[in-house]
Amino acid sequence: MTTRDNFKEATGEGRVDLKVAWYGEQIGTLHYNNGEMTWSREDTQAALLFRFPDEDDMPAFLKNLQPEGWLRDALGSPSQISYLKSGIRYLSNITIAEDESFSKDRDPDRLTSRLKDHTDSGAWFTGAYLGPRADSINNDIEKEVAERAKFHGTPRMSGMQMKMPVALDSEGQIHHAMGGSFTHILKFGGTEEWRASELLEWMGLQLAGEAGLDVPAHALVNVGESAPPALLVERFDVPQHQNDGQRYLIQDMCTAARIKQESSDINGLYKFSLSMEKVAKLFKEKVHDDNDPDALHKDLESLYRKAVSSWAIRDGDMHLKNISFLKVQNPGDDDFTSTRLSPTYDTLNTSIFHEFGDDEAHYTALTINGKKNKLKISDFVKFGTDSCGLSKDQALDIFQDVVEKTVNRAVEIGENIPNSSAEGCPKCDYMVRRAVTDIVDRAKECTGEMNKKYDREMAFSENVALWDGEYPEKKGSNHRRYLRIGRDI
Ligand SMILES: Nc1ncnc2c1ncn2[C@@H]1O[C@H](COP(=O)(O)OP(=O)(O)OP(=O)(O)O)[C@@H](O)[C@H]1O
Ligand SMILES: [Mg+2]
Repeated sequence: MTTRDNFKEATGEGRVDLKVAWYGEQIGTLHYNNGEMTWSREDTQAALLFRFPDEDDMPAFLKNLQPEGWLRDALGSPSQISYLKSGIRYLSNITIAEDESFSKDRDPDRLTSRLKDHTDSGAWFTGAYLGPRADSINNDIEKEVAERAKFHGTPRMSGMQMKMPVALDSEGQIHHAMGGSFTHILKFGGTEEWRASELLEWMGLQLAGEAGLDVPAHALVNVGESAPPALLVERFDVPQHQNDGQRYLIQDMCTAARIKQESSDINGLYKFSLSMEKVAKLFKEKVHDDNDPDALHKDLESLYRKAVSSWAIRDGDMHLKNISFLKVQNPGDDDFTSTRLSPTYDTLNTSIFHEFGDDEAHYTALTINGKKNKLKISDFVKFGTDSCGLSKDQALDIFQDVVEKTVNRAVEIGENIPNSSAEGCPKCDYMVRRAVTDIVDRAKECTGEMNKKYDREMAFSENVALWDGEYPEKKGSNHRRYLRIGRDI
């Protein structure tokens, strides 16, 4: 997925000072003067936590929060400075505004209601969705979400997909977050072959959970008869209940490595620019937890699990902005209590999407042992032992566990696809079955090597063996065997 130019050149704005705050406490100022931007850090305690020096540019953590993809298009390329000075809310209770009262007089985002209390045993959100719908009266969710994105005070997220910041209230109602608390992220399915994206992302989160990774609460939402299912995800980067006094900060691997989103990088390559070994190195530099001396060891193991899980899912989009640290601080403390791997988000099978290209659709986003393609178990074992502190047996145990659990659960989902809006997504079932077929193929790819090289047998459920027999139409001589959705079924 690509990133386009972020902003038009600003003209005629003169000099503007923008105050940047975290939980209402100023951490720095962006000085804008006739097209030049400089950053000076504030002398507050919160600013010290950010550890960013003065710069002749916007610091990485702010650059990487700026709109990309869908949101940037929806906002209609405003000049950067007019966009920022109106007052913007970002993730993790970071705010920017010319007027400091915008940040100071605001209650921070915090959860007031838990999604698990409003989800059925299958997959669906059981509360009331009060946002834009696509039904017989109105079919243009995208236009409405885009209009709302322009409102002053609407929280902004990075990422390419169409998303809406929402609040889940204690009555189980979801509404647009606007100026109020932003507690959950609602992601919408796209058009054409992307209609199934949120069903696939729901499956991805289920599979990651099955693989032993921490995942936020998530549920499918019916947003109208003519729309594909949307996905509601609970935020983990805000206080988790009314009495939670801690402050949270999500920091993605781009920011941790000080890699900046640049408008000149039209392909968004910066997000794909490091190896998993380098990510493990960042973990060794940054992970700590005052309450858990074993934090680094555990998080490196989780990183390894995440690498295997995303390979097994055939998620080609686990780039540097889809891996993050979650930092937690107690107000008044002069450092973060912990910097840990965040829960998993934005993981889905991408191998079925033609937009990713015929071969690249099967690549991983970041290299492992120098490769993005044709990875072998031995490449994972090398990563696990050289970079994640595992023994060879531990690396093999985890690999086997993750691949088996992923494929077993994928087939279970493939046989019981949650899709209550067939009209809104007539081909969603087919897309999910394609994805499951690719996941089954991937699991089978490694049985020979596991057996010959490591003398171990992969144990898949009976239904995995039956899957190919059930869906033979998706097999062919060419690994890029699927035709474009709409033409082939
Ligand atoms: N549950 C969550 N809690 C807190 N922050 C989150 C959560 N899920 C996602 N985020 C943050 O929001 C950003 C955008 O979300 P996400 O990655 O799901 O969007 P996307 O548009 O699908 O991204 P991409 O461009 O990678 O496809 C993430 O990079 C992450 O910083
Ligand atoms: Mg993402």
